[in-house]
Amino acid sequence: MNIILLGPPGAGKGTQAKKISEQYSLPHISTGDILRHNISMNTHLGIKAKSYMDKGELVPDELLVDIIKARLSEKDCSAGFLLDGYPRTIPQADTLGKLLADSKRKIDVILNIHVDDEELINRLSGRRMCSCGTSYHVLFNPPAKEGKCNACNCELYQRDDDKPETVRNRLVAYKKQTQPLIDYYNKKALLSTIDGGKDIPLIFEDIRKVLEKYD
Ligand code: AP5
Repeated sequence: MNIILLGPPGAGKGTQAKKISEQYSLPHISTGDILRHNISMNTHLGIKAKSYMDKGELVPDELLVDIIKARLSEKDCSAGFLLDGYPRTIPQADTLGKLLADSKRKIDVILNIHVDDEELINRLSGRRMCSCGTSYHVLFNPPAKEGKCNACNCELYQRDDDKPETVRNRLVAYKKQTQPLIDYYNKKALLSTIDGGKDIPLIFEDIRKVLEKYD
């Protein structure tokens, strides 16, 4: 099963991706995580990407093409994959469509997680991250021990781009560049919209109901 997770910043894509990936044994491919890894390693890509990400802007499409191409050609993607945060523009969607067609694959379903703006801001301002990739929220999804990861006990931190000014820019970028993908994929009859305003387990139940049709 080949899945795309679509939704604004803070919609819960990463949170649900972790659950989907475990339940359906699919590799979770997050372009945000790949870029943050490159920033932490100080790679050429990371240095270039950081200047955009710090402002809450999208990284130029051409910086991501080779990364996605290489990642989707890895062996673990042959039986399916879960894309989180890619595509985010119509040119990226066109590129992905061509890449998959070249290897005789296609997208099966796009899960569009919808959440109101006010709730998105609440979620992003309270998000805390662990270097192992686990995400928490100080109120909605707190760790068992304050400031520490449940899985590895490491210190939690706030993402640089979760600061209020950057969050505002990310929401603007989403509306301008990513939201048009909803129409793009709706026309291809691939889109299922999920109410992302519910509690985390209830959203996952709704996702499972959609995915049952494709499994
Ligand atoms: P990326 O890392 O992909 O960020 P994003 O899309 O903005 O999404 P987030 O990770 O902020 O949110 P999420 O939807 O995963 O929510 P989460 O589950 O963490 O991208 C970062 C940047 O990289 C971009 O701005 C861009 O610059 C660049 N980039 C990446 N991909 C790119 C691309 N393809 N093209 C160009 N540039 C690209 O949840 C958020 C919080 O809410 C957490 O605290 C969580 O615990 C909590 N929460 C989750 N679900 C619920 C719930 N149901 N109820 C209450 N709280 C909840």
